[in-house]
Amino acid sequence: MARQAGKQNCGRLVLVSCLSLLALGLVADFLWASSHRFSPAGTYLPSSFTTVIGKLPPDSNEKDTKKDKEGKERKLSATFQDLDAPQLEWEKMPAAPVPRLDGAAIQIRNLLYVFAGYGNINLVHTHVDIYNFVDNTWGGRFDMPKEMAHSHLGMVTDGRYIYIVTGQYGPQCRGPTAKTFVLDTDTNTWSDFISLPVPRYAPATQLWRGRLHVMGGSKENRHTPGLEHWSIAVKDGKALEKEWRSEIPIPRGGPHRACVVVDDRLFVLGGQEGDFMAKPGSPIFKCSRRLEVVFSDVYMLDEEMKWKVMPSMPKPDSHIEFAWKVVNNSIVIVGGTTEKHPETKKMVLVGEIFQFNLNTMKWYVIGKLPYRVKTTLVGYWDGQLYFTSGQRDKGPDDPAPRKVVAEMWRTKLILNP
Ligand SMILES: *[C@@H]1O[C@H](CO)[C@@H](O)[C@H](O)[C@H]1NC(C)=O
Repeated sequence: MARQAGKQNCGRLVLVSCLSLLALGLVADFLWASSHRFSPAGTYLPSSFTTVIGKLPPDSNEKDTKKDKEGKERKLSATFQDLDAPQLEWEKMPAAPVPRLDGAAIQIRNLLYVFAGYGNINLVHTHVDIYNFVDNTWGGRFDMPKEMAHSHLGMVTDGRYIYIVTGQYGPQCRGPTAKTFVLDTDTNTWSDFISLPVPRYAPATQLWRGRLHVMGGSKENRHTPGLEHWSIAVKDGKALEKEWRSEIPIPRGGPHRACVVVDDRLFVLGGQEGDFMAKPGSPIFKCSRRLEVVFSDVYMLDEEMKWKVMPSMPKPDSHIEFAWKVVNNSIVIVGGTTEKHPETKKMVLVGEIFQFNLNTMKWYVIGKLPYRVKTTLVGYWDGQLYFTSGQRDKGPDDPAPRKVVAEMWRTKLILNP
């Protein structure tokens, strides 16, 4: 594994993967609405792995800071990873017909097509819902093909055809499918497309220079980061070649990143290495947590076809594959997950909106969400930024994941020029 990494990440990747397999105690059931914690016995890992959290933000919320019994060690606030951000005025819009986690979304003009996702850990959706930004209504529900994956999809559009690549088939932590489809949004009809060479979970997916590109994601066991990158020439929803071609591997693998093409350059932003896996022998493929490392890395491909390192995100951020929009030459990213809390080991959600201004190549934190949320689905219409669905936090003081939501919110988008 990680043979092709070639870079400084190679050793680390191997180490992370091995550690995660060895860390037997680090297996906590994936509970949706509970205060799950790791058993402290499971946390004897090198400190560099339990505290890969980057530096404390200067304005971190320390109101819960307190001393331990001996009065020596400072306890970290549960919310210490929140960044200072402008308060925004949010307007609640009509909720989606169903709650969704790990769904997918594509905006075409005034319509937001929302696909698949988990309703809860034992139930996956098999249909598409559509939101219309002009009259602010949901409607137009139709079914997905029987063999299409239900979460962890790679997805991109050319403005009419939506390419839907690989993903997880079924609920809990079931296996992936390599099956790939095309939706013609003029007629809402589906067609088959050439399967990816091997299946992936949540690979970065984009259309770039006439080719459909798919890279990274997790391998078949849901946890091991894939570095492979494939492409195939496409036009009007059809492949122009017989098979996928291998491209330059990405510097760092793993699922749940944003992948964006702007001005003839391809960016991959954030993501993670490692993910929940099926519990060995579980007949329902029950999800169990494994070590994951969230990162803030941003990479870019241009006509040289070499990866270039771009300025990092303001904090590590994952689960953002459909949580971005490009507005006025800026990439706007909403929510996500960041590194787990170093003491409680709980998952920590992100409650900010980030702007990567491609004129200046600078990152900004441009606003606070009504709550922290991951795998939210984002649209932009008439000056307003919208987000719907995903899994939200337990509350303002507890950034751990709780409820899967259907809510839709919007706010006026204010960017740094
Ligand atoms: C984008 O640019 C246009 C033209 O300069 C401006 O009117 C608009 O307010 C900008 N939008 C945002 C969200 O900044």
